[in-house]
Amino acid sequence: MANLEELRKKIASVRQAIQSESSGLTDTKTVYELRKSFLDKTGRVGQLMKYMKEVDPSQRAEFGKNVNELKNWALDYFNSLDEKMRAAELQRIYERENIDITMPSHRRQVGNLHPVTQVRNQLIEVFSGMGFEIYEGTEVENDYYNFTALNTPKDHPARDMQDTFYLSPEFVLRTQTSSAQIHVMEEKKPPIKILSPGKVFRSDDDATHSPMFSQMEGLVVDKGITLGDLQGMLDVFVHKVFGESTRTRLRPSYFPFTEPSVEVDVSCFECGGKGCSFCKHTGWIEVLGAGIVNRKVLQNCGIDPDEYSGLAFGIGIERVAMLKYGINNIKQLFESDLRVLNQISDRQ
Ligand code: DAH
Repeated sequence: MANLEELRKKIASVRQAIQSESSGLTDTKTVYELRKSFLDKTGRVGQLMKYMKEVDPSQRAEFGKNVNELKNWALDYFNSLDEKMRAAELQRIYERENIDITMPSHRRQVGNLHPVTQVRNQLIEVFSGMGFEIYEGTEVENDYYNFTALNTPKDHPARDMQDTFYLSPEFVLRTQTSSAQIHVMEEKKPPIKILSPGKVFRSDDDATHSPMFSQMEGLVVDKGITLGDLQGMLDVFVHKVFGESTRTRLRPSYFPFTEPSVEVDVSCFECGGKGCSFCKHTGWIEVLGAGIVNRKVLQNCGIDPDEYSGLAFGIGIERVAMLKYGINNIKQLFESDLRVLNQISDRQ
């Protein structure tokens, strides 16, 4: 017969085993495994019951009670250990996934449109708001459209104004978008209101000239068109592009395809017209050429100059971009140096 005192020692040693074997555990999985090894049907706590038959019948109830107490204690013990492990695991997850929301984030680089494209788009927006349609001509043009029809026949001194790239005696790289005027007037009868943006080419190369640059031609033909209409439209353009307080002034000039011809100046947007180094102390900056379409040009396109009149203007897009963004060498617009181009934007 087993002595109850000895059996109680066994019960106590199982309790101790639970405490010592669980002392180094750090997660719920190992606690679960250990709990099983003690509390499963075949676990070490249950195994104590096999001593029952060795206990004196008068002490069996007492022994059973002691084993049950151990079992209840073990259940509580493992439950609270499991809770502790869960909390510790959660804490480890929090630490691992800790995000420092005060850290600066990676900023994505946002690209810019090229300044020439920005100005081109802005001009298109301004003029299409006034009802202009876009007509895109071709870069290779024949001599007739680039010069002759624009009242610049061969040997006309005005041909010297534009250093032309001849591809053959008949074909040129267009020197001006004005050639679009002729195509449009041949194809359409008035009223005409077109804007023709595009690349033009001249054998010219210095700080303010490039062999390739861009122009935007405007042409309006209708009954009773005057220089007043021209100035009104250009005022809208200048206010939008250079600022509301900018004023315009027309100066007499000469182009073979317009009569009268004018150069359009804007009041200096650096000094407001007082005079500074930007406007060479004149208070004015030249921005484009324009005029009333020469009667001969209308006639060349089969439009009766006694019935209709027209206005035309030609804007240098790089020139506007250089003025607007304070660029003093046209090469900066063509070198594609992102350090320069990234700084030139209307977007803040
Ligand atoms: N085609 C001229 C040039 O390239 C610019 C120009 C001047 C266009 C007067 C026009 C105009 O339509 O009326 O220098």
